[in-house]
Amino acid sequence: EQESTVSITVFGASGDLAKKKIFPALFALYYEDCLPKHFTIFGYARSKMTDAELRTMVSKTLTCRIDKRENCGQKMEQFLERCFYHSGQYDLEESLAELDKKLKEQEAGRLSNRLFYLSIPPNIFIDVVKSASKSASSKNGWTRVIVEKPFGRDTESSAALTRGLKQYLEEDQIFRIDHYLGKELVENLSVLRFSNLVFEPLWSRQYIRNVQLTFSEDFGTEGRGGYFDNYGIIRDIMQNHLLQIFTLFAMETPISLDAEDIRNEKAKVLHSMKPLQLEDVVIGQYKSHTRNGISYPGYTDDKTVPKNSLTPTFAAAALFIDNARWDGVPFLMKAGKALHTKQAEIRVQFCHVPGNLYKRCFGTDIDLATNELIIRVQPDEAIYLKINNKLPGLGMKLDRSNLNLLYSSRYSKEIPDAYERLLLDAIEGERRLFIRSDELDAAWELFTPLLKELEEKKIAPELYPYGSRGPVGAHYLAAKYNVRWGDVN
Ligand code: BG6
Repeated sequence: EQESTVSITVFGASGDLAKKKIFPALFALYYEDCLPKHFTIFGYARSKMTDAELRTMVSKTLTCRIDKRENCGQKMEQFLERCFYHSGQYDLEESLAELDKKLKEQEAGRLSNRLFYLSIPPNIFIDVVKSASKSASSKNGWTRVIVEKPFGRDTESSAALTRGLKQYLEEDQIFRIDHYLGKELVENLSVLRFSNLVFEPLWSRQYIRNVQLTFSEDFGTEGRGGYFDNYGIIRDIMQNHLLQIFTLFAMETPISLDAEDIRNEKAKVLHSMKPLQLEDVVIGQYKSHTRNGISYPGYTDDKTVPKNSLTPTFAAAALFIDNARWDGVPFLMKAGKALHTKQAEIRVQFCHVPGNLYKRCFGTDIDLATNELIIRVQPDEAIYLKINNKLPGLGMKLDRSNLNLLYSSRYSKEIPDAYERLLLDAIEGERRLFIRSDELDAAWELFTPLLKELEEKKIAPELYPYGSRGPVGAHYLAAKYNVRWGDVN
């Protein structure tokens, strides 16, 4: 049988994503012996650089984080020897034809499989795909293309991008990354639901009062204001990362673990959504704030952001699924930059115990006594369940305690970076964690009318101080549905 080889070309090789995530993830895979026996990595960008310069650049961000095995340095050398650089234009078939020649040299007559990672702005996706498909796609193996968001700004632009890509590629060649799907606890969500008897039967309106999906960062958009101002937090985080977690959380049991079966169920959730109402959304923008003598800049203090920008850096929304399982259950999403903490979690608040015998033992706030399941995606990955428990002793007082699965104390293995899993899946042709075009369309259809309304009506975001808990409006929104955000308790 003919031996095969995989060539990975990273377009935008000198960009941040490539340096910080893609090359380190490829090295981690190599280190763990997960890459195929024959592989080559090409960095591709416009600037002139030699192979040696690329290797020096890449080596700066590679770490031996997995464990401190002695051969790490040696492995790094071996890995770097497989990395090359090609300087070329993004829209020139000749540049890609030259790349093709270099790839062939490395492939040395083996069966060729080619993976193109487009770590470049989306306005040049189609140029690259067009010239790559003409001049550099594999003649006897597979050709796959990984793309990163933003996939457009709304339904129309996203559809145009998809149409453009599909002129040159089949849907199954396109791997749309949402790196939150590569996070350990997001992947574990289905395991938790479908392999434990104790959760799935409770997973419905009958037992769940509300679900909260939150994302917060304790830093602002410094350094990427230009990009951010054109998108805002709803497009940057909610429409993709939070919505993806949401669909995995809420979907029906798939027929199997096959990518198509899972993505069918995810798409169904999106097609069952009630339209998002403006009154169910709160937007915010951070302003400068001085704390402990340190002053933190406001969003519009960034020179690349217009002074009068109305772009939200925070948003909270209440979403509803119009189906038998979830009718009436509020799903509250919250995403924000420059907040008091960095965290992403899913919080499930269960219903009250009917006729609770112990209600007197909770004081006045019975709400605080309902069970909660928290899946902390990051940092300090954990799954914990809040339960009521008798305080040991002669009296009858109840205490809220956690049944706690903290990953760092339970497992000694380090959690791989999301990009490691996703790159490996793309190499292996596993599509489960990538977004199919119908999912993408449905995600945009949900958010586009709201985004248009916010922009047309020029809705002003509520200002919140850098490092705070965000706009108070988010609490009123939750209160409207009898919900208390988890982090307040
Ligand atoms: C990206 C967003 O998709 O995700 C960034 O564009 C955000 O704004 C980032 O900071 C967060 O990713 P992570 O993995 O660091 O939580």
